Amino acid sequence: MTKVTVPAVSARKVRDGADALAMITAYDAPGARAASEAGIDLILVGDSVAMVVLGYDDTLQVTIDDMAHHTRAVARANPDCLIVGDLPWMSYHVSVEETVRNAAELIRAGAQCVKLEGGRKRLPMIEALLDAEIPVMGHIGLTPQSMHAMGGFKVQGKQAEAALELIEDAKALQHAGCFSIVLEGIPVRVAEAITDALEIPTIGIGAGPHCDGQVLVYHDLLGIEDRFVPKFVRRYADFKAATIDALAAYAADVRSGAFPNDEESYHLSDDQADAFGLYGSGGPGE
Ligand code: KIV
Repeated sequence: MTKVTVPAVSARKVRDGADALAMITAYDAPGARAASEAGIDLILVGDSVAMVVLGYDDTLQVTIDDMAHHTRAVARANPDCLIVGDLPWMSYHVSVEETVRNAAELIRAGAQCVKLEGGRKRLPMIEALLDAEIPVMGHIGLTPQSMHAMGGFKVQGKQAEAALELIEDAKALQHAGCFSIVLEGIPVRVAEAITDALEIPTIGIGAGPHCDGQVLVYHDLLGIEDRFVPKFVRRYADFKAATIDALAAYAADVRSGAFPNDEESYHLSDDQADAFGLYGSGGPGE
């Protein structure tokens, strides 16, 4: 596979005959390597790292330094996938200058573009990022960084008026120059209408099948995270159960003495074993 680029993603509309985009989150080098070898198009180094890796209850706890740390780990794997750096909460809310400086941190860490949450009110930030030659992916609908304002992780755009607002947000993000937009937690018909209205691709999560691509959180897809499984998640593996079984088998082998066996141990050559025998079990000096 050749490296996926921003212009290549931006041209991927399913209605024009393109294959749908497959995006997955990843937060470290092994995850990035697996995504690349699986032929995934885009890796999102998402702020979901807060919840699925760092043990927080929401995404509001991670900083730009945390995100740069994980972006560097993903970039070191040199995946063919496009690396999208997720701007965390408060990294693009204070000023245009801070937004550009923070996005530059993620680009220097190895991201090829950044994602930020929100609609029309983010336009000044998006324009400044594009002026600094930093490609931007939008993210509208259920935006987890707004969880307190939304009263929790709630599906958005369920009322006709709110749905129309989302369509206007999407058009404004496209007009500003975003190269794609994540649609999260919105009804199927609304996601379809947004996808039809745009020239740039939409990437859905909990937004139904009519988007130009889909994204899932790595730990949800692989069944590593099982405390809460949203309706839109499809599990392709049960790694948590497989991991617990493997760790329990290891612990049992250690306790019974079955691990390590002779083949898993290093040995002296015969002549060195003989010489070593001269010194007794404690070796030279004893
Ligand atoms: O951080 C993340 O994982 C995300 C996806 C849910 C789109 O933003």
